[in-house]
Amino acid sequence: MPIRSVTVRVPAKVNLQLSVGPRELDGYHQLVTVFQAISIFDDVIIKIAEPGSGIHLTITGDQTHGVPTDATNLVVQAAELIAQKFEIDIDAHIEVKKSIPVAGGMAGGSADAAAAIVAIDELYNLDMTRDEMHEIAAQLGSDVPFLLSGGTAIGQGRGDQLTAALSRGTYHWVLALSSVGLSTPAIYSECDRLRQGLDISEPQISDALMQALLAADPKGVGNLLVNDLQPAACSLRPALRLILDVGQEYGALGAIVSGSGPTVAFLVSDEEHGLDLAVALSASGVVGSVTRAFGPVHGAKVIESH
Ligand code: C5P
Repeated sequence: MPIRSVTVRVPAKVNLQLSVGPRELDGYHQLVTVFQAISIFDDVIIKIAEPGSGIHLTITGDQTHGVPTDATNLVVQAAELIAQKFEIDIDAHIEVKKSIPVAGGMAGGSADAAAAIVAIDELYNLDMTRDEMHEIAAQLGSDVPFLLSGGTAIGQGRGDQLTAALSRGTYHWVLALSSVGLSTPAIYSECDRLRQGLDISEPQISDALMQALLAADPKGVGNLLVNDLQPAACSLRPALRLILDVGQEYGALGAIVSGSGPTVAFLVSDEEHGLDLAVALSASGVVGSVTRAFGPVHGAKVIESH
């Protein structure tokens, strides 16, 4: 029996290091980043539809606001790229069940694109190699390749040139979510504006962070969290500074804006500390909603196929 329906689960990410080089002529920035995949997941469900019916996308779940269902969605773009490359017709219903915050700096849209690649590969029996998947992913966005593999990885170039990072232990996170997202291009532009006239050097990987990850040392990792986009996110959303301060006051090992924000990620020593911090943040009144997660976790993976 041919497969009719596939479900792929895909995680969100935080950047433990996000070092941003100068703006290049193509508008992008050279990055050195350390990604960690964390346990907040979207599910992408793809089902075969009538021949000639095309691709129909629906978004469900608790995080749907502002997610497009037309050809601007990376899931549709992933399907179109694959259809072109493999010369197949893709007629399918695709449902994205969202839990990853939208426009939150946790790569939700990129995660869905990575999941779509894995789901289409399974549904249409394409037997894509990792390299083929990666090539399609990199055309869709800088974070998409990482969400295919998950775990902990160093990203260079636009963030899409990956090397696995050696990381031991489990890291516990508390995430302060905002109900209104931030646009990634706007954050990069603000970063450029704030750095105008400064001499920005090539970004370098933090050896100290690599050592702390290898040593399963959350305290060390907490001290070494760095995000060059944080001043820009705080400039466009000043309330983030307050949230960062409140978390640190309540004993987080480290506090950082996640990617281009506005999610703020707090590293904590264990699950119990995470629960305490989540309660304190909720009670403080400065945070919209709070969730907890751990990492690293695997990347996009088939969880059902029938
Ligand atoms: O690659 P992606 O589509 O996710 O990037 C979104 C936006 O983020 C880009 O349009 C660009 O403005 C900015 N960006 C950048 N340098 C990178 C990655 C992203 O300037 N390395």
